[in-house]
Amino acid sequence: MPLHKSSKVFVTGHRGMVGSALVRNLRSRGFNNLLLRTRSEFDLLDQQAVHAFLAEHKPDYIFLAAAKVGGIQANDRYRADFLYQNLQLESNLIHGAHMAGVQSLMFLASSCIYPRDCPQPIKEEYLLTGPLESTNEPYAIAKIAGIKLCESFNQQFGRQYVSVMPTNLYGPNDNYDLENSHVLPALIRKAHEAKLRGDHEYVVWGSGTPRREFLYVDDLADACVHLAEQGYGGPLVNIGTGEDVTIRELAETVMRVVGFDGRVVYDRTKPDGTPRKWLDVQRLAALGWRATTPLKEGIQKAYEAAPFFTQAASA
Ligand SMILES: NC(=O)c1ccc[n+]([C@@H]2O[C@H](COP(=O)([O-])OP(=O)(O)OC[C@H]3O[C@@H](n4cnc5c(N)ncnc54)[C@H](OP(=O)(O)O)[C@@H]3O)[C@@H](O)[C@H]2O)c1
Repeated sequence: MPLHKSSKVFVTGHRGMVGSALVRNLRSRGFNNLLLRTRSEFDLLDQQAVHAFLAEHKPDYIFLAAAKVGGIQANDRYRADFLYQNLQLESNLIHGAHMAGVQSLMFLASSCIYPRDCPQPIKEEYLLTGPLESTNEPYAIAKIAGIKLCESFNQQFGRQYVSVMPTNLYGPNDNYDLENSHVLPALIRKAHEAKLRGDHEYVVWGSGTPRREFLYVDDLADACVHLAEQGYGGPLVNIGTGEDVTIRELAETVMRVVGFDGRVVYDRTKPDGTPRKWLDVQRLAALGWRATTPLKEGIQKAYEAAPFFTQAASA
């Protein structure tokens, strides 16, 4: 069912990076009937609480943007938490939605669901065609289970539970904790701190040669709401920019934005990961959407929204 301005929309994880961008986008388009609950109001791991909430409020649409999310280190160290919590949370919400008669929802998966050694660009049909990257395998398995839950409820019960596959995201409300963050927020923070300390060098992990794709989170939210407004109920869709950059190019762009004029040093003792990860976005383009925020502009906006940013530091 397509979203209408009066639709009652439940955005889970609305204080996270993706959920908060969805709320900004929905509000900017005139959606004001939003259901938002913090974790302290009810924990999405609590099946009874989730089912009771959905039965009481019967949303018209659910964006499933809550998840246990983290960088490589956290994914590798807390494997059981990443698998169990994501399985539990998505099962509670997807099954609970079905029990409450909710016809449409959107499940946010992730590009790490694709096999480690995929041909590039990565098409949606490459799902389950090869082994996963081992560091985040538990997280990827939970996300694949979520996609299959959606597909199965569609096949068995005629629901319209859609899965989308965003590439690497960045923007306001990103996680800048160096122990637990993704590559781009980590680069922004490290460059910012190097500048404040007056360092001459800034160390980047790996050789700088791997290629990665980055999407500004407000663009992602716009793509999700675009699909929901169209009433899209089809197979999974990649969401990306269609362009990638080397980590070297990324680090240099971050330095220019942050205003750090030292030099980048590559720590080749640290792993590079897969050489390239680039999503094919033809399916999304055929549905009438493409990304609009250039990387440098997006990094500028993300930096200005970062918790450590001050006007003085940017001068
Ligand atoms: N970040 C990326 O680069 C990226 C890329 C591709 C896909 N995605 C997908 O996008 C979705 C959102 O990611 P994100 O980056 O926005 O993550 P995030 O900033 O960590 O936000 C996740 C949100 O989920 C909430 N949450 C987690 N467990 C919960 C629970 N048990 N009960 C209630 N709320 C809970 C968190 O609440 P608290 O604030 O209370 O912790 C937080 O608000 C995830 O499904 C992720 O896989 C993200």
